[in-house]
Amino acid sequence: MLSQEMATALNEQIGSEFSASNHYLAIAAYFAQGSLDDWAAFFYRQAEEERQHGLKILGFLIDNAAPVSLPAIAAASTDFPNALAAVTSALESERRVSSQFDAMAVLADEQRDYQGLQFLQWFLREQVEEEATMSKLVDLVASGINLFQAQQFLPAPHAATDGATEAEATAQNP
Ligand SMILES: [Fe+2]
Ligand SMILES: [Fe+2]
Repeated sequence: MLSQEMATALNEQIGSEFSASNHYLAIAAYFAQGSLDDWAAFFYRQAEEERQHGLKILGFLIDNAAPVSLPAIAAASTDFPNALAAVTSALESERRVSSQFDAMAVLADEQRDYQGLQFLQWFLREQVEEEATMSKLVDLVASGINLFQAQQFLPAPHAATDGATEAEATAQNP
């Protein structure tokens, strides 16, 4: 049985994941406006992944018969001053989300909520990957490389990992 505090934190996290999805859509649109189609495709995929993260948490709440309340999704502007600012905002967003999961893991531990803790493991692992990916993109753009040429260095869609939903697998390998 999930505690009230864990249920509240997970409901809030659905809002963070959907807001991250919106943020990545904005970055995708920014790149698409500059005809950087592979950059746009990368961020469209990321947006879809974040949506799947939100759905995964929603499913966990439902499986645990916990109350569900969907928070507001934050607006996202496509008005980035440049590509470096856009990818840096993505890295900052991932770092913020990582600290949210860290805080939830501490909460689950304090509450001896071992099922909650186990559920969070997948996200804690995923965040390491997400931060590393965005950090590489920041380095790539900061190198000053032509953004059209840089497209060949974008990470390929990765295969569905353990615990990934079918929709996630489809989103990553359309
Ligand atoms: Fe996420
Ligand atoms: Fe993410």
